[in-house]
Amino acid sequence: MQQSSTPVIAIDGTAASGKGTLCRRLGQTLGFAVLDTGKLYRLIGIRVLNTGIDPQDEDAVTQIAQGLQTSLSLDELNDPQLQSDEAGTMASITGQYAGVRQALLDFQRHFAAHPPEIAGIGAAKGAILDGRDIGTVIAPDADVKIFITADLQIRAKRRYKELQSQGIPVTYDAVFEDMKARDVRDSSRSSAPMLPAEDAHQIDTSDMTIDQAFDKAISIINDAL
Ligand code: C5P
Repeated sequence: MQQSSTPVIAIDGTAASGKGTLCRRLGQTLGFAVLDTGKLYRLIGIRVLNTGIDPQDEDAVTQIAQGLQTSLSLDELNDPQLQSDEAGTMASITGQYAGVRQALLDFQRHFAAHPPEIAGIGAAKGAILDGRDIGTVIAPDADVKIFITADLQIRAKRRYKELQSQGIPVTYDAVFEDMKARDVRDSSRSSAPMLPAEDAHQIDTSDMTIDQAFDKAISIINDAL
């Protein structure tokens, strides 16, 4: 259990499991500041793409992450470029490197310990961090840990529909293969792989609506806080 006065909720899980939507809704309901840590990794992925560095060049990618470390701000995470699937794939490749993960550690821990004010609301009552290794590495003492997942085919269908609704030309098979590759990379990397913390509550959203997943998460959180 976290001893600080501001509670921390760690939410980890797979891509398109519904955790992003869940975190935003939990943040609004509880008055907690939310950090989507995937955006930090996406930012590095996009920088690597824009500078033309080989994503397999661990030293060069790590240097980019270390350069960014000192200047990182929450505002940068609003860049719409970060939402592309290309950014997600690059994030998953460059996020494998220990030096990249190390460069992003302090920013995430600082957010958890000192959640920023919420626009139009004021002081945050706590922090929610959404990621892959929050409950295991970033905030192992979090007050509540939840691991969200869903069947791969269901997640691929969700992402496919989302991309279609945005008018992005893509096939279901391509989305499925990309998501499968990303799952493998995220869970098999040696540095901070995606895995549920031993004390995490697991929610499988395969057969759940967003409302059902939210109700389940809120009941876990209310029991714990
Ligand atoms: O959650 P999102 O899809 O934005 O994450 C993009 C990629 O960034 C993930 O597939 C994962 O490889 C990486 N990531 C990570 N650790 C986090 C958050 C994201 O490795 N805490």
